Amino acid sequence: MKGSLILDTHASVAKIDPRIFGSFIEHMGRAVYTGIYQPDSEFADQDGYRQDVIDLVKELNVPIIRYPGGNFVSGYNWEDGVGPVAARPKRLDLAWRTVETNEFGLHEFMKWSHKVNSDVSMAVNLGTRGLDAARHLLEYCNFPKGTYYSDLRRQNGAEEPFNVKTWCLGNEMDGPWQIGHKTADEYGRLAEETAKAMKLVDPDIELIACGSSALDMPTFGQWEQTVLDHTYDQVDYLSLHRYYGNRDDDTPNYLAQSLDMDDFITGVLAICDAAKAKRHSHKTINLSFDEWNVWYHSDQQTADNKPWQVAPHLLEDIYNFEDALLVGTLLITLLKHSDRVKIACLAQLVNVIAPIMTSEDGKAWQQSIFFPFMQASQYGRGTALLPLQESPTYETKQFEQVPYLESIAVLSDDQQTVTVFAVNRSANESLELNVSAGNLNFDHVLMATEFAGYDVKETNEQGQMKLVNNSTAEVTATNATAQLKPLSWNVIRIA
Ligand code: AHR
Repeated sequence: MKGSLILDTHASVAKIDPRIFGSFIEHMGRAVYTGIYQPDSEFADQDGYRQDVIDLVKELNVPIIRYPGGNFVSGYNWEDGVGPVAARPKRLDLAWRTVETNEFGLHEFMKWSHKVNSDVSMAVNLGTRGLDAARHLLEYCNFPKGTYYSDLRRQNGAEEPFNVKTWCLGNEMDGPWQIGHKTADEYGRLAEETAKAMKLVDPDIELIACGSSALDMPTFGQWEQTVLDHTYDQVDYLSLHRYYGNRDDDTPNYLAQSLDMDDFITGVLAICDAAKAKRHSHKTINLSFDEWNVWYHSDQQTADNKPWQVAPHLLEDIYNFEDALLVGTLLITLLKHSDRVKIACLAQLVNVIAPIMTSEDGKAWQQSIFFPFMQASQYGRGTALLPLQESPTYETKQFEQVPYLESIAVLSDDQQTVTVFAVNRSANESLELNVSAGNLNFDHVLMATEFAGYDVKETNEQGQMKLVNNSTAEVTATNATAQLKPLSWNVIRIA
């Protein structure tokens, strides 16, 4: 089977916002406690953070991390997580029906985010709380000094402001499961007024309004329209959330789910742009795909969970090879929309539906999905070129024309290197990829790796999964070619 990709540096999607490789840490399950923070671990550093986890997060090169939820934030009092640890209250977390000790809070997270070289995207509670708590938290984080909340932050050990630039106005407020769930009008009004107040405190922040928590929500579309009617002038981004699963064990259809992500993004953009046209606005609302991943392996674990534990095993999906391939296609899809998707967060980062897992007594390990995310984050910086691609297609029960080849090329900022990301969805056939250099001049293959050859259900608990060299990659001045193995994630870097 043959497929091709034509490069043309004059035909680009956009300069990629690095925040497209963001991730997410929620106070739930073992994401925080025994995930990023475990003072009694042999791997803990002097502050109690797991150094083995820090090292892996740094390998992923995550530019922004959303915190502290998720559903958790909709019942969270941020004040519980600041001040002397011994005085912090234990609380019922109603979202996950666990006990939150608050041993870890805002200052601990900010310090950890510096250790992993990430910015923070802070979510405010618009479920049980609202404008007042949000503006106080912002004052606490970003105001230099001389006011009640800024001085409280200094008293609690942070002389300098945290300077958090990206803020989420609540979480999944369209979802009936959300604590403090609202109608689109109720949420829209609250988000509008909260945004207005927050921008008065700090005009330099960027705000994300809640879009739909899935494409198949019954309120999808109407929700976005109504929320934008209220918030258009105050916010900068609209959020999307989407999780995938191969519940009916149909791999070809599962690997086509990036088409669903594509539909979702295209649909939400149409609504944003209709709102823009309706109000004759010059302002464009971009997207924050602030939760995306595979989430279904842990369904039974969720059903079996006993309430009111501290940091129970929750949402601990163990990812297999086909999940990694899907994640690869989802990353390519986000890059294809990098003109409008400016922020995206792989949900989540550690232990909870995560690329990085810890065991209480063993060293942290990489799940299968770690590998495509790491390579996309590492090499997907620069300008995404328009994916002028040709590929044979196949049909699934959900999609009519699924290309076997999913690909995109990224041109580095110094214009010296092109990185091609490509997935071959075919289970049986290799794909002979031809990359035409267009107006570029190829000289040599800098790097060519493949992630291939595993059973679709194979997981990486034993640490055997590896990226290996693809020795078939070759270049002439005008072309590059490579054989893409059946069911493979491929990265080819050409100078
Ligand atoms: O990431 C897990 C959960 O998924 C988040 O808490 C929520 O926002 C979404 O439903």
